[in-house]
Parts: sequence; structure tokens; C-alpha cells
Amino acid sequence: MDSNLKRTQPFKDQQPGTSGLRKSVKYFKAENYLQNFIQSIFNSLEDLEGSTLVLGGDGRFFNREAIQIILRMAAANGVGEVLLGQAGILSTPAASHVIRKYKALGGILLTASHNPGGPDGDFGVKFNISNGGPAPEKLTDAIFEESKQLKEYKIEKAQVTPIDQLGSFKLAEMNIKVIDPVIDYADLMESTFDFPAIKELIASADFSMCYDAMSAVTGPYATEILGSRLGLDTNAIINTQPLMNFGGRHPDPNLSTAKQLVSKMYDKKGAPNFGAASDGDGDRHMILGDYFFVNPSDSLAILAANAQVIPAYEEGIKGIARSMPTSQAADKVAEKLGIPCFETPTGWKFFGNLLDNDQITFCGEESFGGGANHIREKDGLWAVLFWLNLIAVKQDSVENIVRKHWAEYGRNYYSRHDYERLPNKDADNVMRHLKSSLTLLPGMQFDTLRIDKADDFTYIDPIDNSISENQGIRIIFDNGSRIIYRLSGTGTEGATLRIYIERFEGDIEKHDLDIQETLTDLIQLSVKLAKVVELTGKSKPSAIV
Ligand code: G1P
Ligand code: ZN
Repeated sequence: MDSNLKRTQPFKDQQPGTSGLRKSVKYFKAENYLQNFIQSIFNSLEDLEGSTLVLGGDGRFFNREAIQIILRMAAANGVGEVLLGQAGILSTPAASHVIRKYKALGGILLTASHNPGGPDGDFGVKFNISNGGPAPEKLTDAIFEESKQLKEYKIEKAQVTPIDQLGSFKLAEMNIKVIDPVIDYADLMESTFDFPAIKELIASADFSMCYDAMSAVTGPYATEILGSRLGLDTNAIINTQPLMNFGGRHPDPNLSTAKQLVSKMYDKKGAPNFGAASDGDGDRHMILGDYFFVNPSDSLAILAANAQVIPAYEEGIKGIARSMPTSQAADKVAEKLGIPCFETPTGWKFFGNLLDNDQITFCGEESFGGGANHIREKDGLWAVLFWLNLIAVKQDSVENIVRKHWAEYGRNYYSRHDYERLPNKDADNVMRHLKSSLTLLPGMQFDTLRIDKADDFTYIDPIDNSISENQGIRIIFDNGSRIIYRLSGTGTEGATLRIYIERFEGDIEKHDLDIQETLTDLIQLSVKLAKVVELTGKSKPSAIV
């Protein structure tokens, strides 16, 4: 027997979710668990022999150990070269760019995104293909099938590769090139945006900002791009040191988790003009103004409406795509621009084909994700730089930019109510109940609300015609309001029911209402139609985003 061959037993639970395989660290540390999944990826790839792969992660706990295992397995599986981010670091957008730039076969990204880290936190493995984007369902399904019957994996004898210094190393026959994780990505950002204009804005006495890296992967990227290249005082970049447990916090940029930034931006005695944060692996963004929050669905619409102020998009954009639960604010912009707006299932993998085939230039999700055709992942710092470039050109505040957008296009009031850590059977019961009532709902009237359409969202990819079913329940009212239900595919504990609620308001006099209040009737109806209280025992959501 080949001395690199190790016997193992199949696992039944390695099905990739919305964004790769995510489990608690304890799972990944269990004997052969990581090895099985990696071998399943390798077995599912054609052309692995002699190929180039990219490897890196968000630096969370277990990143370094996982990298040593994956390098030894890649060598034993005949990979030609691995481009590894120094110290095992590559933000998700940077990894996507490196895969594209060096024409790699793909990349293994070690991240659980915004999930907490540390020995009791989560870990994750995601495979991205040669376009730099997350593996499509066809490939993730093949990996899952493989993992359920795998009996052996290949690994080189134990040896430690120095991953902290730049340079080239050998592991058996395989080359390992340890690369600077920041430089290629920073250059890409510099070629996309008007850096001199942003630099001038940052230097001006009337402007101040704060960027929160949340002790996660974007620290070094922000230090290089915002600090060194754009001249931002390093005091304006907080939590820049990536920590394996993200300082014990949730590395998720939203109003309840990015506490330090939020308290600065909502300080009545005077706040910076601009605030922004990114998540664990650097693909999400949150944008704040002085005492003002930019809803991520609005952010996508606003960036699309203003694309032409950015050097890279001067000639206009081809189209926009948004995930189905994301608000319809972007649709209004697309309509005005006379370009298509695609509605895809949740998860970045569904944007890949549209981007590859030049159908769209921008895409985004309500979950603090925005991006463009420069890579095939969402990109937190890209969105931050876009906003800075926009402010530099408009010479206006974040709040004014948003309000003027609403005045022109109307406002999509929007909120997401999450019921987290539900027993799986309760969450399944809610979805089952909704599915069984779909045919009865159209035509039903609740005060002023009349249901126009109710369905279980199916997506047919316009490029390869692949079909993705069961992507969420949509209840659409005849005034355009929507209630959407779906179960999260990224959690590691029980099930999370997400309810997305949206109402359009065209009257400028009504653009300043409290979000939850103005959505009250839809929120109450969303709970009633899904029998949330009866089927889960929960009288209120555990998180409101
Ligand atoms: C969540 C978000 C989704 C995003 C994904 C990865 O997935 O809702 O938009 O693409 O994280 O960042 P979910 O947990 O809802 O499946
Ligand atoms: Zn992320």
C-alpha cells in the first residue's frame, strides 16, 4: 500500500451549506474530519494533478493547523503548486482575486465568515473554482456524495512548512509559494477607484472617519489601503490586529455586533462623518454616517445608481443581480437605467455565471454583501472604498446621499427577523406549514394588504439552465410588499428561521418613519401566516437586523 494512504470512515454530515462546510472547531478537530472533506474535494476535481491551488483563511483558531494538513494532502494528491497567503491569511475577496490573477485551478478558503471563532467557535472550509467564485451546486453536491463514501485519503508524512515568511518551499514534489496576502488585492482596489480623490477627501479638515476591522482579517488590508495608500491616520482604523477568536466577539458588521464603531457613530456629542466595518473574512460591509445606518439593500441600489462616478465603471453597468430576499431597491435603479435586474437564490455562488457571462456588473445581498465583476466574491473593502469615492465626488454626507436616493427612487422599508437556535423539527414544521398553504394564500385580504402571489422560489440559471429548488417562500402583495421565509444554511447549532419583510414607500413625506413601526402590519402577518408562535413556541425573534 502507498505509504501516504490512510484509511478512514465516511462522514454523513459534510454537506456544504450556503457558503461551504461550516461546523464547530470540535468537529473539524475530530479524527479524519477535515482530511475527509479535503480528500472529497480533491476527488471531485478534474485536472488536479500538477495544478495550482490557492490556500488561505481568515486567521481564526485552527487555521494554522488546518493549513499544514491541507498542504501535506495537496502534495500527496499530486498538486503542482500551492499559493499560500503569508501566515495562512487571505481575506475571501483577496483569495478570489489571487485565484483569478494567477489562473489557479481553484482555492481552499478556511473561514466561517462572520461566525464566532476560538476553540469553542466555528471553523469552515470552502472551495472556490477557477473563476474565483464559490463552487456551484453541481460541484458541492459531488463533494458531499464523495464524503459519504470515502474510505481513504492521501497525506504526506508529517512535516512543518514555514508559513510566516515569504518565499518558495518544497513539500515532496509540490511547490509552495508563500505570497503577500495584501499587495495584489490592494493594487486591484487602486486600479478600480480614484485614489487621489479619496486621498484628498481623507486629508480634508471637514472629513473624519472610522473603520472597524473587528479583530478579523481586514486589519492588514485596511492598514495598507486606507492607511499607507490613502493617508488615513491609523487611529481611525480600530481593531486592526487579527485575533484567532476575534477578541471573543462576533465578527459580523451590524448594529448590534459592531458595538465600538456604532457607539462612535451614534455619539450625540459629535461623530465621524463616515463609519464602516467588515466581517471575519472581509467579504461583508456595513456603512454608517453620522447617526445614520445604510441598509445593505439600499447600499447596493445606491452604488448601482452612482456607478459612473467610479473610474472602473465609467462606461456604465451591464446589469444588477440581487438575492431573492434582498429588497427591491436595486430593481428600481435597474429599471431607470434600462438594464436587467436578476433575482437569484441566497448565496454568492449564484452570481458567478451571470458575472462570467457579462450579464451583470454589480450584485448584492441584504446580509451586508456587495460586490462587482472584479472578483467572484462579495467584497467588504470594495464597498467601503466605493462609498468613500462617492462621497469624494458628491461632497455630501452619507445621510444626504441616501435621502436623495430615496427622494428619486422611493424607499424600501426593510427588516429581517431571525429566530435562531430552533430545534430543527420546529423550523421544518414552519416551512412545511407554509408550503402546504401556498395555494390558499393568493387572493387573501388582510386589512389593506392583499396577497397577489405565493410560491416556493425556484431559480433557473439563465446561463446553464441548472435548476435550484426550495430557495425560500415568497409572499408577494399587490402593492409590492413582500414577506420571505427561509432557513439559514450557515448556522452550526440547530436551525435559524429568517423572515424578511419589505414595504415600498414612494411618498417623500413618509421617508422618515420608524422601520419596525411602519412594517408592523406585515410583521404581525408574517408571524401569523407561518404559525411561528404555535409551531416554535417563540413569541419574538432572537435578532432583528
Ligand atoms: C447568510 C446570508 C447570505 C450569505 C451567507 C454567506 O446565509 O443570509 O446572504 O450569502 O450568509 O455570507 P444563510 O445563513 O442565510 O444561509
Ligand atoms: Zn464573510
